Amino acid sequence: MRLPDRISLANLPTPIQPLSRLGRAFGIDLSVKRDDLTGGADSGNKLRKLELLAADAVAQGADTLVTCGGIQSNHCRATAVVAARLGLRSMLLLRTAEVDRDPGYEGNVLVDRILGARIRLVTPEEYARRAEVMAEVGAELRSEGRKPYLIPEGGSNALGALGYLSCCDEIARQSAERWDTIAYACGSGGTGAGLEMGVRQYLEGTRPIGFAVCDDASYFAGVISRLAAEAHDRFGAPEVPRAEIRIDDRYKGVGYAKSRPEELVRIREAARAEGLVTDPVYTGKALHGLLCELERDPRAFGRRVLFIFTGGLYGLFAAGESFRGLLPPSF
Ligand SMILES: Cc1ncc(COP(=O)(O)O)c(C=O)c1O
Repeated sequence: MRLPDRISLANLPTPIQPLSRLGRAFGIDLSVKRDDLTGGADSGNKLRKLELLAADAVAQGADTLVTCGGIQSNHCRATAVVAARLGLRSMLLLRTAEVDRDPGYEGNVLVDRILGARIRLVTPEEYARRAEVMAEVGAELRSEGRKPYLIPEGGSNALGALGYLSCCDEIARQSAERWDTIAYACGSGGTGAGLEMGVRQYLEGTRPIGFAVCDDASYFAGVISRLAAEAHDRFGAPEVPRAEIRIDDRYKGVGYAKSRPEELVRIREAARAEGLVTDPVYTGKALHGLLCELERDPRAFGRRVLFIFTGGLYGLFAAGESFRGLLPPSF
């Protein structure tokens, strides 16, 4: 296969660390791949995708990266940092029900604002037709003399997804012994598409499982198989049969970026057991799903399980209030 050019932005390889206390409880080898450590303010899984997307943008002579996401989008924040690192501008379309209210100074939005990203607040209705709205914004920027490069939600297109195909190459080089399962949080499907392609290319016998944080299993099977089919046609990536894609959609809880007490308790307990501080929107829910399934059947995912910690810590700092009552001061 032909891997397209990338700009080196991420600190790679990210370490793989044992979660020995959590794993021991189930009699398995449970480890974490620290993709939260890909960068600084640009940390998380998006940086692997942005290495490819930004290279394409620069090759096309773009001067502005345009993308979209929820109000506390990690992807938008990472895109704004990457734009600044490369001397480009950024324009973010952020979804919120309160478009007339100032977006505030917390979590990812604070970072977006510090970076000088141009922010446009869009309603959930506008966001539902985001491809169209992005195209309109692109046309507006062109009429101002700028050269925009449009990046879809989550950086999840065929090109961006290749970032996680390469991550599987990295995992293969880090450990001679086979992982039975790679578990990850699934939000827009790009990480899942990359991992599904990547295990077929580099990690024979390993199967990914995505824990959906929104939408449902059939939606993500559709997205992942479409992205993989496009990556196959454009870059010669391995084919991914839709029926083989594993998504568990039972742990998204009450909805995207909404937390139930059991999910927050899981974040607290994992942090205290292993020093692994996950976020409530993505990685905390995925880890909760993984551990709930292991509690049900310790052999559900084989003997060696690798959890990809895809970052998102800024989301935790925007959700501090939801922990009130769960964290009494200890004297
Ligand atoms: C911290 C974090 N983890 C996981 C995901 C999910 O990745 P993807 O959008 O590629 O499905 C995202 C973004 O959506 C994220 O910000």
